[in-house]
Amino acid sequence: MLRHTRKTAYASDRTLPDNLVRSWADSASRFGLRSGLATGAAAMDPIRRITREAYEIEVTTARTWLESARLMRIGPGAIAANPDGISMNSPMVRLLHRIGLFDPMEVPAKGSSSLQRVMEHWMPLETASGFLWLASPDNTRSMQVASGRAYVRAHLLATAAGVDMHPLSQALQEFPEMRGPREALYQTLDLGAADQTLQMLSRVGFATEALGPSPRRSLDSLLRI
Ligand SMILES: Cc1cc2nc3c(=O)[nH]c(=O)nc-3n(C[C@H](O)[C@H](O)[C@H](O)COP(=O)(O)O)c2cc1C
Repeated sequence: MLRHTRKTAYASDRTLPDNLVRSWADSASRFGLRSGLATGAAAMDPIRRITREAYEIEVTTARTWLESARLMRIGPGAIAANPDGISMNSPMVRLLHRIGLFDPMEVPAKGSSSLQRVMEHWMPLETASGFLWLASPDNTRSMQVASGRAYVRAHLLATAAGVDMHPLSQALQEFPEMRGPREALYQTLDLGAADQTLQMLSRVGFATEALGPSPRRSLDSLLRI
């Protein structure tokens, strides 16, 4: 019950416990995956650059922006009515939405002030103690399920050690416009040669704000008896 995906800024000056780093690698291998951790500016800065570029591609590509926009729940009323999408509850976003300066259905254009605002929200997501990745030797359905199990297990290990995690998946996506960042990421993580699949990339560290759990639909609403 303590495991939550924390999406706020993380401390930039804290190191991860050594035993957690070891348990991440052991746990991944039990599911048939390999994990790795990038720490320090020399290893993290290229990943920051790639993930930022990937996010900018996702938000300026109409169909991928709109896929998210249709799931945006802005403000407590919308979140409570549909507790299943992308919750947006910051006072600034709510205000901009209320006065008509933020319309989710408007795709941010390159060079526009709305893209600038969207990218400002990205910047806190560059803070972390490291980037943790999980890669699999093939991409079969059963390996995808094992990847999900390995990811949640890694997150539970982090939670037990007081460490937070947040996936940044944009650069892993397989639509054509994302090809540049995806290839750059595989190259940076040295995953290119052996036909591996990068299944998850997350920033890891210590969140500077303790926000509660993500909104959830009730169990009743998911069962038909
Ligand atoms: C394959 C996969 C990729 C995800 N990628 C992202 C991501 O890039 N950014 C993000 O904010 N959440 C992402 N999420 C969602 C979070 O990991 C998390 O599941 C969700 O926010 C629910 O929050 P909780 O972990 O607190 O229950 C992803 C989830 C999955 C399963």
